[in-house]
Amino acid sequence: MKDGIPDRDALGRLEREAQEAVAAAGDVEALEKARVVFLGRKQGRLTAALRSIGALPSDQRPVMGNLINEVKVRLEALFDAKQEALSGSGADPEPYPGDPTLPGRRAWEGGRHILHRVVRDAKEIFVRMGYSIAEGPDVELDYYNFEALNFPPDHPSRDTQDTFYVNRDILLRTQTSPVQVRYMERHAPPLRIISPGRVYRNESPDPSHAAEFYQIEGLFVDRDVSLADLRSDVSWFVRQFFGPGAQVRFRPHFFPFTEPSAEVDMTCFACSGEGCPICKKTGWLEIMGAGMVHPNVFRYAGYDPESVTGFAFGMGIERIAMLKYGIDDIRRFLTDDIRFLRQFWNEQWAGVSE
Ligand code: DAH
Repeated sequence: MKDGIPDRDALGRLEREAQEAVAAAGDVEALEKARVVFLGRKQGRLTAALRSIGALPSDQRPVMGNLINEVKVRLEALFDAKQEALSGSGADPEPYPGDPTLPGRRAWEGGRHILHRVVRDAKEIFVRMGYSIAEGPDVELDYYNFEALNFPPDHPSRDTQDTFYVNRDILLRTQTSPVQVRYMERHAPPLRIISPGRVYRNESPDPSHAAEFYQIEGLFVDRDVSLADLRSDVSWFVRQFFGPGAQVRFRPHFFPFTEPSAEVDMTCFACSGEGCPICKKTGWLEIMGAGMVHPNVFRYAGYDPESVTGFAFGMGIERIAMLKYGIDDIRRFLTDDIRFLRQFWNEQWAGVSE
């Protein structure tokens, strides 16, 4: 800058000096001082340079003016960035209290409840077999829960399911079987459904009883459906769910809505049928009720029992979960004990599409 008249070299030097001052500024205060020296509006060196271009020949003024402005923009950005850096660290003068070299803690990750996983797995197996999913209400009419399932009014068989009544006609469903009738009322045969859902019974809780639990109901109606078809679908499910070694057997039983009726056992997973404390030395574990749909149930649903036959089954989800995973007390599903629940979280999200 000769005689106060700016030139490129001088401008270059000024910018370098400003950069050095910024780099040297160790705190916000020092930076502010440097800012005043270089960018101050009244006395700043860039302002002085701008003012002095008046002394240049008029054709050089715009060029020099532009150059000075470019330097100004760059320096402002530089000062701002440094200021941010300084005040960022300055905002937290306390030293970090922990040891920053320690490995980080993994974020807490939740997982799917074991019952939902079991329902999902069971659904998947049935859907692959051609079943679709149907649902019904938890608060149900006595009509669907009992009457249309061929439980005569005031018949003692109703006592086997200790019912929570809302009033004379409305109750909390004690089983998922009412979905059978509801579904048949709205759909013509053939049909093949499963219906997972929660059921309620007025039971005192103990290791194998809870006042609310889940069931999966199954219903298959078509022409000429036989007990052999029931057996084949149930065996297939059991092998898919419990493993290829699982076998089933049917024991005669009574349910009002099926005839004939059976209880279905599978080979004890713990002793493979040898007999052990888990299966009470029988080699078998009961897993569901099943049977051929009673003609009266078809009549209630508006089907002609002369032209269709069908099978139905119902199983407790907690029960199959307990058997598969060796869980000793049905109440654990409801206690929300994270130590219990997290055991089942591995592979939790593998293949989940919902
Ligand atoms: N609803 C029966 C229960 O809760 C289980 C059951 C048995 C369902 C036989 C069925 C069946 O569909 O055919 O004890």
